[in-house]
Amino acid sequence: MRLKDKVSIITGGSQGIGEATAKKLGEHGSKVVIADINEEIGLQTVEKLRSNDIDVIFVKTDVSNEQSVKSLIKETVEHFGGVDSLVNNAAATMRKSVIDTSLEEWKKVIDVNLTGTFLCSKYAIPEISKRGGGAIVNMASWHAYRTITRFAAYAASKGGMTALTRQMALDCGPLNIRVNAVCPSTVDTPMLYETFKSLPDPEDAFEQTLAFQPLGRIASAEDIANACLFLISDESTYVSGHSLMVDGGTFNKVARPLMFD
Ligand SMILES: NC(=O)c1ccc[n+]([C@@H]2O[C@H](COP(=O)([O-])OP(=O)(O)OC[C@H]3O[C@@H](n4cnc5c(N)ncnc54)[C@H](O)[C@@H]3O)[C@@H](O)[C@H]2O)c1
Repeated sequence: MRLKDKVSIITGGSQGIGEATAKKLGEHGSKVVIADINEEIGLQTVEKLRSNDIDVIFVKTDVSNEQSVKSLIKETVEHFGGVDSLVNNAAATMRKSVIDTSLEEWKKVIDVNLTGTFLCSKYAIPEISKRGGGAIVNMASWHAYRTITRFAAYAASKGGMTALTRQMALDCGPLNIRVNAVCPSTVDTPMLYETFKSLPDPEDAFEQTLAFQPLGRIASAEDIANACLFLISDESTYVSGHSLMVDGGTFNKVARPLMFD
């Protein structure tokens, strides 16, 4: 119970990595707020977590909308009395090059991934500060550092998130708020299979991806949730401004899967 009586907001917590993180933090005693645009799946997730004795609510939120984010923080404080940690996990993905990306598509990805991180942090930080400090985790990606073809807006948004992480760590230090990023590579979630579906041979793409993994498997959502737990809990009390690669070692490989070329 490393987070007993804490309150954690997880954006994009309806499914995938966000759901696994909500479950992990809840299992360690945190009260949990799932903030997601997808209410139908979010409410199903809330039911699943409640059946595991996790104290959780769902707040329908569009992280790219300032009013919606303000309401999220207000509802959280009204329901649970405050905020101790925030996981900026909600994301939109887009597999296009710069010349193929429309301005609307660019704005959509940047608005959800980067502006959403900015907005949720902006309104959560004063509340976390009132509790004497806490932690923020930004779900970036290995695309922040090394990427593949046709991920222009997504890679830019994730690079922005790691830069913002380093910056926020400086401003939030005096408030006793640590800010870190997690950079997953290939994780078994709906988003991954959406990406594979955009390829000519999704099954072959999966096999090639698997063959690329030093650990012989892709990450589970729980692998990423474990990293979030570490960065939020008191086991990382002197870690701030760091981007933690959670990639099973793939970052060190020179070769890359060719199916994306
Ligand atoms: N799956 C991977 O391989 C992988 C790899 C690297 C990084 N990531 C990152 O991990 C995070 C979670 O990814 P996932 O694979 O679980 O994705 P997912 O698509 O399964 O889940 C994303 C969640 O975000 C929510 N969301 C989307 N737009 C939103 C908005 N405007 N406001 C609120 N919620 C919104 C969706 O409804 C969904 O529940 C993302 O930040 C993603 O970029 C994923």
